[in-house]
Amino acid sequence: MKEKLLELICCPHCKSDFSVIVDKTADGEIRSGTLTCDSCGKIYKITDFIPRILDSHEDPAVSKTSENFGNQWTMFKEMYSFYKEEFLNWVYPLKEDDFKGKKVLDAGCGMARFLYYAAEFGAEEAVGVDISSSVDTAYRTVKNKPNAHVIQADLANLPFDREFDLFYSIGVLHHTTDPEGCFHSVCKALKPGGTAHAWVYGYENNEWIVNWVNPLRKNFTSKLPTGILSAISFAITLFLQPILKIFYYPTGVKNIAFLKKRLPYFPYMYWLSRRNFAHTHVVVHDHLTAPVAFYIKKEDFRSWFDKEKMEDLELVHRNKNSWTGVARSNPYGSPVSGRDDT
Ligand SMILES: C[S@@+](CC[C@H](N)C(=O)[O-])C[C@H]1O[C@@H](n2cnc3c(N)ncnc32)[C@H](O)[C@@H]1O
Ligand SMILES: [Zn+2]
Repeated sequence: MKEKLLELICCPHCKSDFSVIVDKTADGEIRSGTLTCDSCGKIYKITDFIPRILDSHEDPAVSKTSENFGNQWTMFKEMYSFYKEEFLNWVYPLKEDDFKGKKVLDAGCGMARFLYYAAEFGAEEAVGVDISSSVDTAYRTVKNKPNAHVIQADLANLPFDREFDLFYSIGVLHHTTDPEGCFHSVCKALKPGGTAHAWVYGYENNEWIVNWVNPLRKNFTSKLPTGILSAISFAITLFLQPILKIFYYPTGVKNIAFLKKRLPYFPYMYWLSRRNFAHTHVVVHDHLTAPVAFYIKKEDFRSWFDKEKMEDLELVHRNKNSWTGVARSNPYGSPVSGRDDT
């Protein structure tokens, strides 16, 4: 943990500052130590360079989500150069320049494949938060970035108080037990007038996944040991990748309208077809590992931003099966109606 991160974090319970007791340092960072809230006295550990600002929780769905994604990002830890383009594609309509000089939060950073680029794009500070042990991989991914930080914390209970100019959350909120509640919680990390960006699974055009794949994932694949699920995902990828490369990729590149209309899930599968086998393997695994997945309807998603009284909302139907929302938080910093903003 870099000492300057102390300026951005606070006690998740009472929002008071932390005092730090340093146990060991290495490479100019705090390797281990203790964070103590100056007001309520809550104590959190810093271990292996990462502040673990997590309270114990009783919900088995949250623990299982954390366990499975921790395993996923420990296994799939490679950084591919195409992640830069993927990140820009995902954070659309934001651009590289929108990160320059900003305090940026990656809400649910996984192994930090996108946090790396937020830092690279010139963020003043780029902070990644994740509930799972993926933070250990994330720390290694951004280790050499002087403006990047990683924290283990729950989006439902974040250690920030309106510190950030921008947050983005890619593929995370729908895997929490309370997507809307977590969205509002992350919004409280944003300065008045800051930018919120979230991408979630959509309900529209995904009805068969909701009805067939989701129960299979919930009741079967998310319960499999990591090695077995990885092997199953590999086998599915062996079958899927040739289809993507033979049918979807040429159809997209040559813009063959006749086939575009007939190939199922064309925008999504074409997106997938542009990348290598290893990437498809990660995506397939990611779809099968999550114990919790909500599919969000457009109007419900819109209402999350409306309740925050956000301005200039832009909703994008990404690949025609998911929703991206980007908006500016209320410049007067008013709380969500009916919610406690303390
Ligand atoms: C599909 S992965 C996406 C990771 C990253 N955004 C990316 O695209 O590479 C979902 C991530 O959300 C994290 N996550 C799920 N619930 C969370 C919560 N309540 N608080 C923080 N992170 C959470 C998981 O641990 C996992 O790393
Ligand atoms: Zn406190």
